[in-house]
Amino acid sequence: MKDNIILIGFMGCGKTSVGIRLSYQMKRPMIDTDKWIEQKQKMSVSGIFEEFGEEAFRRMETECLRRLISSVDHQIISVGGGLPVREENHKLLRELGRVFYLKVKPETVYDRLKNDTTRPLLQVDDPKERIRNLLDQRGPVYEACADVVVDVSDRSFDEIIGQIMMNLDQ
Ligand code: S3P
Repeated sequence: MKDNIILIGFMGCGKTSVGIRLSYQMKRPMIDTDKWIEQKQKMSVSGIFEEFGEEAFRRMETECLRRLISSVDHQIISVGGGLPVREENHKLLRELGRVFYLKVKPETVYDRLKNDTTRPLLQVDDPKERIRNLLDQRGPVYEACADVVVDVSDRSFDEIIGQIMMNLDQ
């Protein structure tokens, strides 16, 4: 197993913001699987969904994990919210490092993303309902995949980072 720190969780849970702070504090580079895919495809995630469909994007996520396993270590890796849903990715995530699940409430996600247009899965008539349904389905998957669950609702960045660092020492 490698020594990367992996952040998983639903869209809007704060993987990127927490990752950037961790990266700064621990002086480790940060990688984001969405950005990695966008750079490789030279296309936005929304564009990939539109042109090739969700299933193709999911294959790109698995390919991204495989590449990262063979190329990076001691980094912070933030992964797209749907990546852990693919069963075969669980083993790959574990190989890649320690997995932290940033657990967030559906209301928080809605408040943060209600005006966002970059998440194709939330461009529906009732995004609130969509968030609730997806979180109901994915919550147990995230928990099963994680080494550590970090409740991020109503907590400051300092508290969240503190819990992650404390678990790294153990
Ligand atoms: C998705 C989450 C997004 C991105 C894509 C699909 C999902 O990443 O990968 O829009 O299925 O939850 P973030 O979790 O970084 O928003």
